[in-house]
Amino acid sequence: MRVHRTQRTALPRLLGSLLLLTAAGISSAGAVPQGAAAATSGQAAGSPRPLGQIVPAPARVSPDGSPYAITAGTKIRVDDGSREARKIGDYLAGVLRPSTGYDLPVTGHDGGDGIRLRLGSHDSALGAEGYTLRSARGSVTITARGPAGLFHGVQTLRQLLPDQVEMNSRQKGPWKVAGGTVTDAPRYAYRGAMLDVSRHFFSVAEVKRYIDQIALYKMNKLHLHLSDDQGWRIAIDSWPRLAAYGGQTEVGGGAGGYYTKSDYKEIVRYAASRYLEVVPEIDLPGHTNAALASYAKLNCDGAAPPLYTGTNVGFSSLCTPKAVTYDFVNDVIRELAALTPGRYIHIGGDEARSTGHDDYVAFMDKAQAIVGKHGKTVVGWHQLTGAKPVAGAVAQYWGYDATGAAERKQVADAAANGTKLVLSPADRVYLDMKYDKDTALGLAWAGYVEVQRSYDWNPGTYLEGVPGSSILGVEAPIWSETLTSSDEIEQMAFPRLPGAAELGWSPASTHDWDAYKVRLAAQGPRFSALGIDYYRSPQVPWPTQ
Ligand code: ACM
Repeated sequence: MRVHRTQRTALPRLLGSLLLLTAAGISSAGAVPQGAAAATSGQAAGSPRPLGQIVPAPARVSPDGSPYAITAGTKIRVDDGSREARKIGDYLAGVLRPSTGYDLPVTGHDGGDGIRLRLGSHDSALGAEGYTLRSARGSVTITARGPAGLFHGVQTLRQLLPDQVEMNSRQKGPWKVAGGTVTDAPRYAYRGAMLDVSRHFFSVAEVKRYIDQIALYKMNKLHLHLSDDQGWRIAIDSWPRLAAYGGQTEVGGGAGGYYTKSDYKEIVRYAASRYLEVVPEIDLPGHTNAALASYAKLNCDGAAPPLYTGTNVGFSSLCTPKAVTYDFVNDVIRELAALTPGRYIHIGGDEARSTGHDDYVAFMDKAQAIVGKHGKTVVGWHQLTGAKPVAGAVAQYWGYDATGAAERKQVADAAANGTKLVLSPADRVYLDMKYDKDTALGLAWAGYVEVQRSYDWNPGTYLEGVPGSSILGVEAPIWSETLTSSDEIEQMAFPRLPGAAELGWSPASTHDWDAYKVRLAAQGPRFSALGIDYYRSPQVPWPTQ
């Protein structure tokens, strides 16, 4: 958040030989959109979208032969015996049936035709998340080593189909997919979006809507910012007032809300069905007014402050010398870890301006040990690097151009010591930053962030002194001080979110703004078909609809 903010101190690659093939340049996606430019604004009826014209850019594309067409007789043929492949087939049918109007039965019989979802590729360069998609006259076949790859391949198939495929009512076809092969795998293992459900609360349905949107762009992490000064959003049985009292308001004084444990489990389940891991965050030791207001004993003076509905930061701190503080942290992390199948727990650590430095370091030592004790990997905002990150901890960098050299060096030093970094530069991928001076929603403390600025940076070289091998991935956070609904989230997230997803997925060799903006423009009608009211950035050659 980030009003009146001054900064305090401010993978594995799965591609292997695939990248070499790309570099050898059969037909990389970076080159494809040139030829695709005309298709953006006037896709001739019946002519399929060029094979590489998707977001994120695929690693390798080889157009070839006749297109495939989905028809009334098409079957979705999944690997018999794989429950996951069956579920992905059902998911795909769920996307395709309303708009095509076809039955699209999902079957375990492989007739060799139709839409085929196959597990068990021998191409180790695909890793756990890569896939190949082969499209020809009689069939389109997606092959992967694991279900996540199959799911990402299905997103590619979706994007290759006409935009109207996203509609919920029957549309006119034809439903063609260009002929050829896509061979694809992610650059980074961590590709995330963060939703701040604390400043304003978002319902389970709203979170699911965002999950579906980020899954379309092959992200694989949903970071939920579950607590902050303005609201505590997750039920904790051993400290029931956190949610029941600390969750009952939000910025501006609205009713707030919180997730029951079953709500949270439903979010986790739904995210997993889209191959997304939930990364829950309890922001500590600052950003804790909602907790301090809920339990007087957490305060050094034993007096609970009132609930807070403003937008300042840096004024709250847990009482780091008190033993009860660590009972609290332990109980919260224990219950959250038990609810969370994913490997990470995010413990915040940002803007702890009301915690002395030594207290901060001592607190973060204890909090990290608690996360480890409950079997999880620590993630913290990059201020964690000003304490002592434990082995295996991940730091999330949210600095920006104005971030001082000393703070950057601290992060680089931590990286040299083995701390992996997730990059979320605020003046690039904080999706709540205004696009320009006329943007009604959002904040501007990191500056205006137009679409090109958001896309046009290289995570592998972004931080001086940090080798590419220290970068675990990219995450696009969206803070919700000014955002109260899915519609408002989407006005800020789109069209920048697909760019952040592409930075996380696509090989650096495909990075090219002029090519990207054409592929992004082609997403405009898809956003509209999905009911996403996106920002019509003048930097992007949107088709006239
Ligand atoms: C942050 O924006 N304070 C992580």
